[in-house]
Formats: sequence, structure tokens, C-alpha cells
Amino acid sequence: MSAKTTPSHHGVKGEQNGRYPNATMKLLMERASCRNFSKRPVSRTVLSRILEAGTHAPTGGNLQPYSIIKIESTRKRAKLAKMCGQSFMAKAPVHLLFCIDYHRLQRWAEIEIAPFSATSSFRHFWIAFQDTIISAQNICTAADSLGLGSVYIGTIMEFIPETRVMFKLPKGVLPVVLLCLGYPAIKLLVRRKLGVEAVVHDERYREMSDRTLQKVFQKKYPNVRLEVTRDRLTRIRTVCSRVHGSAFAKKCIETIKQNGYINMVQRYFGLHYVADLMPTDNEVFIRTIKRSGFTWFEKYRPKKKRS
Ligand SMILES: Cc1cc2nc3c(=O)[nH]c(=O)nc-3n(C[C@H](O)[C@H](O)[C@H](O)COP(=O)(O)O)c2cc1C
Repeated sequence: MSAKTTPSHHGVKGEQNGRYPNATMKLLMERASCRNFSKRPVSRTVLSRILEAGTHAPTGGNLQPYSIIKIESTRKRAKLAKMCGQSFMAKAPVHLLFCIDYHRLQRWAEIEIAPFSATSSFRHFWIAFQDTIISAQNICTAADSLGLGSVYIGTIMEFIPETRVMFKLPKGVLPVVLLCLGYPAIKLLVRRKLGVEAVVHDERYREMSDRTLQKVFQKKYPNVRLEVTRDRLTRIRTVCSRVHGSAFAKKCIETIKQNGYINMVQRYFGLHYVADLMPTDNEVFIRTIKRSGFTWFEKYRPKKKRS
């Protein structure tokens, strides 16, 4: 790939060998995110089946501490697309907002006179996060199996206060991720991934040599090179010096100039998920989580009396 071709940060097209032992394996290996949706509506029956698959997912202690807001309103979908700055979202006929939900369990405990402290517990939060995503992924697979396509929208996490208002989320309900769903307008492109040799460790964690590590990423992003422009260099230099100081910034710029291109990891953390901005506002996120009714990051002080 030439340095003049701007690669997508989603990576490069992969090739699947097309030989799978069964239809499920084919589905899993040929799945891909969909960002181009046709006008074909999703019928009630199809949507119900997909959602049922989501509620049947594995979940810690079978508690199901999650809720899914189903959004079909054109106006709301357009608003979400604008909010997230991803115009293709508006064309997806269904949006699903996956939320951690301890509100429902808390109400159950209150009605049935049971003790409850889940919103104060990191352990519960950690498991609920996983439960929510596992349900979402079951939905993706069910949707794929019925010929639909989907794409997660993580950007929604920047708009938790807005979505809480928009969807009237009570305390104890926290949006985690959005999923756009619909029929693909085009054949989906499978993206290359790190393979088993990079991701799976036999019996114990095995540190790769620098060379092997570079090789596995080179296999994932073969010759993906971003053209050097004055603007990109300035941005990368700024990010590097803010995070690691001016000596590192100088070294990074020299490496780019020597190579004659910006490599994929420089692009990821220097231009896209910029290393100087990503960790900012952690305290704002914590405040947002707190406003959503979760207090697990604070010292636990049991409320003896229930109001
Ligand atoms: C948690 C999460 C958040 C994501 N957020 C976005 C997003 O905001 N916009 C987008 O276009 N894709 C998003 N994606 C899709 C990824 O870009 C995609 O899964 C990745 O590039 C691999 O491609 P594939 O899904 O086609 O295999 C997200 C995926 C996950 C799992």
C-alpha cells in the first residue's frame, strides 16, 4: 500500500479461506462491521428474534443487569448520528442502546424486601459491563445469521448525560455502547486481525521479541503507510511532547522522516486516539457515572435505613 493511500483506522481487508466446518464457524469468520445500510426495513418478527437471542446470553449469576433501548424513530436516529459525528448511523433502521441496569434489580429487591448494594460495588459493575456486552454480541451474531449487518458505536460514551435525558434513563442505568442494525447495502469487508499466534498464549504469558511483535502487526497491517504532511507532523509532534516530552517528540519525528511515512501505531495514538487527549476528563466520566447512580469508586458506607 502506498503512503499516499490514507488507510482506514479500521484496518485492512482480510481474506478468509472460505472453508469452515459448519455454518456457525463461517458466520463468525466472515462477519464484519456494516457502515452502509440499505433502506430495507427490519420486520417485527426478525427484530424480536434477534432481541430474544440477546436476552438469552450468558450472564453472571443469571442476574441480567442490563437493558436495551430499541430506537427506531427517524428523528432520534438522526440526532444520535449527528451527536456521534457518524452520518451512516442515521441510515441504520434500528439503533440499540445497551445499558448496565441495576435499577430493575434494585426495585425488585425493594419490592421483595431484600438487601441491595450493587450500585456501590465495583465487582457488580465489572460483571454487569461484561453481561451487557455479551448480550450485545449475541445480538450481533443473531443479526448476522438472519442476513443483517451491524456496527458498534463506542462514541456514545461521550454523550452519557445527553442519552440519559433523551431516553429517560433512571439512576442505576448507564449507557455502555450503541449498536446500529440493518440490512447491508454492500458486501461487507472482512478486516484483518491479529491471529492466534499473537493473541493466544500456551499455558503462560509469553513475551514476544521486538522482531516477532513487529512481524505480527506487519501481518495485520501489511505496508499500511500514511503519507507525511506538515499538518500531521505538527500534530504528532505536539501529542508526543505533551505525553513524553520534547526529546521523545524529536525521536518520533526523526523516525517518521527516516521511514518516509507515518506507521499505523503512530497514526493510532498520534492522530486518531490521540495519546494527549484520551486520558483527559477521567474525573468528568466519574462524575457522570456518579450522576447515573453508581458510587463504587467511593468508600462504601452502608445506608442502614432505607428511605
Ligand atoms: C466497543 C466498540 C466500539 C466501536 N465504536 C465504533 C464507532 O464508534 N464507529 C465505527 O464506525 N466503528 C466502531 N466500532 C467497530 C470497529 O471499528 C470494528 O469492530 C473494527 O474496526 C474491526 O472491524 P470488524 O468489526 O469489521 O471486524 C466499534 C467496535 C467496538 C467493539
